[in-house]
Parts: sequence; structure tokens; C-alpha cells
Amino acid sequence: MILVTGAAGFCGSRIVSLLGKEGIATRGLVRNPEKAKGRLPEQGVEVVTGDTTQPETLEAAVEGVETIIHTAFITAERKQGPGVNYYDTNALGTANLVEAARKAGVRRIVVLSGLGTKSDKPGTYMHGRYLAQQAVKQSGMAWSILGPSIQFGKGSAFFNGLADLIRTMPVIVPMVGDGKTRFQPIWVDDVAACIVKMANKPEAYDGRTIEVGGPEYFTYAQILDMLMETLHKKRIKVPGPLPFVRLGAAMMEAVMPKPPITRAATGLFTFENTTDLDAVAKYFGFQPMSLWAYLQEHGIEKA
Ligand SMILES: NC(=O)c1ccc[n+]([C@@H]2O[C@H](COP(=O)([O-])OP(=O)(O)OC[C@H]3O[C@@H](n4cnc5c(N)ncnc54)[C@H](OP(=O)(O)O)[C@@H]3O)[C@@H](O)[C@H]2O)c1
Repeated sequence: MILVTGAAGFCGSRIVSLLGKEGIATRGLVRNPEKAKGRLPEQGVEVVTGDTTQPETLEAAVEGVETIIHTAFITAERKQGPGVNYYDTNALGTANLVEAARKAGVRRIVVLSGLGTKSDKPGTYMHGRYLAQQAVKQSGMAWSILGPSIQFGKGSAFFNGLADLIRTMPVIVPMVGDGKTRFQPIWVDDVAACIVKMANKPEAYDGRTIEVGGPEYFTYAQILDMLMETLHKKRIKVPGPLPFVRLGAAMMEAVMPKPPITRAATGLFTFENTTDLDAVAKYFGFQPMSLWAYLQEHGIEKA
């Protein structure tokens, strides 16, 4: 039995579908089963309700599980209630899951993390992600970690946020920094395929952190150009100093349910979000989807 946390999420839902197609017994941990309906296959997945910030809800989820695929993280600190912040959810939540898993005799954990994860200022998204990785590495269970660059696909918060910004700004579109930071966008379905391979092949992936991206590097400015072309909108790209953008993001996170840019996302602009162009082929044996090819066929799709 494989347990997928964050089963109704952007990537988690694709992982659950893929496991189902491969005929693998799957349990999906969700916080809100009503909300999760329609995001999970109707058959082939056992849905369990739980919250990683509430350890007592995890016991039933991990019972009889051999491998956990952990994707239950927050990428924006929204006003949802007490304790919903990067540290409590991403760091402590992972530690709670690890503890419950160890007690239940779970053998392995595969984590969906992010490219370039490193220690950072306490309380930041990056630091939470780092602490989550540490908890898993020190768990005593077999582990593997996937670190993708930004992900595109139907319902991508990053790409939909940028598309909304382009649609709503009449003349200009503010950039994060000078627009020169490079990314290596990867299709969410390709990320799901990599994670499922990691889960299925412990002998190949245990004890490894693998960073992946799509088949091209694009600067942030180039990504905006591609989105404008896809949306048939012309806007002037205006550089936005990082501290101002971060402040704006914090304000938007406080008041908007789906802010176009989050502080977590601005953190991605402090380093090159790239790895080897052939990483997916090299480590997982298939060719990933190109962002431009995807946009030409599908455009921007909300969830
Ligand atoms: N999206 C990207 O571009 C991208 C790129 C690189 C790395 N990643 C990494 O991929 C991972 C997942 O991202 P995603 O884009 O799939 O996010 P997502 O769509 O927000 O999915 C995360 C899921 O986790 C669940 N969750 C959050 N807090 C939880 C808790 N305390 N207990 C149980 N479940 C909880 C959420 O449940 P609800 O449905 O109840 O909110 C949601 O379904 C993250 O680690 C992120 O850093 C994402």
C-alpha cells in the first residue's frame, strides 16, 4: 500500500491517478474529503482524512502502508487558521508524519520537494522545505527526494498567477527583479511520473536527492513573453526590485485567496532555478514535455 499525502493537490492528484493506472493499491490523505471530490479518481483510491499538523489524525493513514509519497506542503501562507505557516505545516507536519510512519513500521518515504532547497532564514518557505528534508533524511526509514523546478500544467498556481497578472494589468506587467533569473519549467505530469518511478524502484532511488527540470531554460522575462503571446496580450515588462515585490506578495497573501505572487515564489528568484537539461532522461529514462509545446496545445488552463 502506498500513501500519498496532499492527494488532492496539483501534483498529488496526478500521482494518485498514475498509481491507479499502474494498479498499485493507493491511499490518499486529504484534509477535506468534500473539497477533494472531483480531484481524485472515483475508484481505486482509498481516501483518508487527516492533517499533518495534527499528529493524532495520522495513525489511521499510515497503518499497513509500505511507502509514503509526501506532497502535503503549503506554498503560500494564507489566512486559514492557527498554525498554518511554513514552519508548522512543512517542517513540523513532516516531522509528525515521519514519527507516525516510524511507529507504524512504514519502510520508505518519497518526498516531493523543490530544486535548490537549502537552509535559509527561519520561518521562510525555503527553510521549512529544508527542515522537511532533514526530518526525512534522519527518519531511519529509506528515503528519496525529488526537487523539481517550477511546474506547469492545468491548475498551476505559478503560471495561472502570472496569466491573471497579465490579464488584469492594462499596460505594464511588473517583473520580479530584473527578469533574468532562469527557470527550467517541468510539466506536472512528468513530475508525477518521476515520483512514481522513485516509489516503485527503491534499489535505484533510495538515499538520493534528484533535481529535475524540463527540456529548456527560460528567463522569467521569456516566460512572461510566452504567456503574453499565448494570451494574445501585449504588456510592457517593468523590473520590480525584490524587496518591493516581496512586500506586495505578503500583502496579497494576507487578503487574497489566490494571490498572483507569493513570498515563497519570490524566494525562487534569489537563485538560478535550473539543473542539467537532460536530468529527466538521465535519471528517469524519458523525454519531458516542453513548456512552449504545451502552451501552444493547451494554453493556460485553470484547475
Ligand atoms: N507547483 C510547483 O510549481 C512546484 C514546483 C516545485 C516544487 N513543488 C513542490 O511540490 C509540492 C506540492 O506542491 P503542489 O504544487 O502540488 O501544491 P498544492 O497543489 O498546494 O498541493 C499540496 C496539497 O497538500 C495538502 N496539504 C497542505 N497542508 C496540509 C496538511 N497540513 N495536512 C495534509 N495535507 C495538507 C493540500 O491540501 P488542501 O487541498 O486541503 O489544501 C494540497 O492538496 C510542494 O512541496 C512544493 O514545494 C511545487
